[in-house]
Amino acid sequence: MNEIVLNHPLITHKLGILRDIHTGTKEFRELITEISTLLCYEATKDAKLEKTTIETPLEKMETGKLNEDNYAIVPILRAGMGMLDGIINVIPNAKVGHIGLYRDEETFQPIEYYFKMPENIEGREVLIIDPMLATGGSASATISRLKEEGVQKIKLLCVVAAPEGINLIEKDHPDVQIYCATVDRTLNETAYILPGLGDAGDRVYGTK
Ligand code: URA
Repeated sequence: MNEIVLNHPLITHKLGILRDIHTGTKEFRELITEISTLLCYEATKDAKLEKTTIETPLEKMETGKLNEDNYAIVPILRAGMGMLDGIINVIPNAKVGHIGLYRDEETFQPIEYYFKMPENIEGREVLIIDPMLATGGSASATISRLKEEGVQKIKLLCVVAAPEGINLIEKDHPDVQIYCATVDRTLNETAYILPGLGDAGDRVYGTK
């Protein structure tokens, strides 16, 4: 079991509005951002802090400091961009890399068309973000590509996951932890998640 599902009334509440066909672009974006922040909260629970001494108005104290620069956030274009604000709201100094993939119409394999990572990507902890983990093909290809670059610590953050996608990531990359807001029932014949929320990219960008 590589998935951590956020089980919380706030998430259930927000997901209900997010999924609703009547929810408009503005609210959809805001909710994706909020849920992404909550996913990030969970995914950074194991973060190592550096000891540092600060001074309150009353006295000195020792506290913990996150090395934000150690993180790279990698949205899978284009829907992944919808989650970015929610992550950098809480890790504002994280670096951001981008990957773009499309599906070959004959082989159905993901083909990379864009790949731009921050320097020293191999030394950073990478949080891949993509709202819908459907077949898992793009996420798995992204993880493989980052591993080729030498990245060792990778987490995958998504809003809605299908069992099919989770199974693929567990098979291909058992070392990668998945954080999701919910696990839905299944995929339909065109690889949309059921009940899902439709096309996340179209809903974030208002393209449909
Ligand atoms: N991508 C989406 O945007 N929605 C789905 O249901 C599946 C993949």
